[in-house]
Amino acid sequence: MPLARNLSGQLLMGRVNLAELVRAVDTPAYVYDVDAMAAEARALRGSFGGASHLVAYAVKANSAGRIVRALGAEGCGADVVSGGELLLALECGIAPERILYSGVAKMDGELDCAIGTGPAGIGAIAIESVEEIARVEGRARAAGRKARVSLRLNPGVDLKGVTHAHIATGHDEAKFGVHRDDVAEAVRLIEHSTWLDLVGMATHPGSQFLMTPPYVDAAKVLFSLVRGMRAEGHLGALAFVDTGGGFGVDYDAPVPSEGAPIDPKAHAERARPSDFISAVVREQRTFGLGDLALYVEPGRSLVAPFGVLLARTVQVKVTPAARWLMIDAGMNDLIRPALYQARHRIVPIDCGATPIETRPWRVVGPVCESSDDFGAHELPVNPPTAVAILDAGAYGYAMASTYNGRPLPGEVFVSGCHVAALTQRAPVETWVRHRSTAGG
Ligand code: LLP
Repeated sequence: MPLARNLSGQLLMGRVNLAELVRAVDTPAYVYDVDAMAAEARALRGSFGGASHLVAYAVKANSAGRIVRALGAEGCGADVVSGGELLLALECGIAPERILYSGVAKMDGELDCAIGTGPAGIGAIAIESVEEIARVEGRARAAGRKARVSLRLNPGVDLKGVTHAHIATGHDEAKFGVHRDDVAEAVRLIEHSTWLDLVGMATHPGSQFLMTPPYVDAAKVLFSLVRGMRAEGHLGALAFVDTGGGFGVDYDAPVPSEGAPIDPKAHAERARPSDFISAVVREQRTFGLGDLALYVEPGRSLVAPFGVLLARTVQVKVTPAARWLMIDAGMNDLIRPALYQARHRIVPIDCGATPIETRPWRVVGPVCESSDDFGAHELPVNPPTAVAILDAGAYGYAMASTYNGRPLPGEVFVSGCHVAALTQRAPVETWVRHRSTAGG
């Protein structure tokens, strides 16, 4: 259920009234609509139209167990990037063969864990360089078990102006994946190994794509290579092609008004996750690869729109430069604005039943950095006592830190229309104990 306001102007998530919830939780606190995340996964799976597929949820976006389990129950697998995420996915009941592991520098212990788990190891370890092949092979030989691998291609697509430079991965200068010119050599090496099974060919061009063409361009580079190598008699054991994650979300959809639902997909011209799937399924068939399963690795699109960060106003300050609204959430809780100049909508949790006069407020956090700045937002002249930072379900808590001696934020899980679980923000004493005893 999308966020909405009731007739008294209070923000609702499902049937949970955030204006009431904020009285019961320490802020800053993330609030997630777990059922809406599950529904989004269900809808995405439905958009494959019966084609064989795996939606491997990129756990890095939000690793809360309740969320990973809910997505697993919808038939999702997991895309992981560390031994920690791998163990977490297993702990949350994701079957080993539905787990994919990417990463340019996987450590020996992490590889051992991926190869050693379950009856036959995980679904695929993504090979990210020619040089990595010998190391993965060595770990498989040491374990006496064959390792299923995929080859992650760097498709070499130009992503300037498509997404933020920090989250573009499929261009030639990026550290990720095997260069196009090296793919034939990498395939030959893997196919010569008695310890490796090449079951997938993969790519992940980047994150937060708002239109399908650049994403489909990357998929076409992959499909063309696969078709070519098959024509030469390679890739006999291939089971899937994987076009990665990256489906964008509409961070600047209109701000919710009284009584109206907040539709995370309000901008019709922006591609929806299902548009990416339809376009890629079409291309896959055009390239004659319809016999292979299609894997994708979405993180953000499954969880971002269904999470908010609740914060209280701490201090107001008016200067010739701005009207500052200083809140208790900072860049340590949500680093996206500071790191990617990302803009998240900020709305009052309670704006009253009647229309009120608004002004631009510069919303900032308490952290001692000028980049701790959520930008200018149109908010009531009389400053709201609490606000919600929207679309914070992905890369929010996952990237939070205790910088400036600030405990990690709390987390509230809404499911079945009520608060199903709640973790309060850690007491500051925990941080003090941890750091004051560091080094003895
Ligand atoms: N697969 C691989 C191999 C990835 O590296 C990523 C994200 C994904 C899948 C999931 O991408 P998504 O569907 O979430 O776009 N912290 C940044 C995003 C970093 C994404 C890193 N890789 C942000 O807050 O925008």
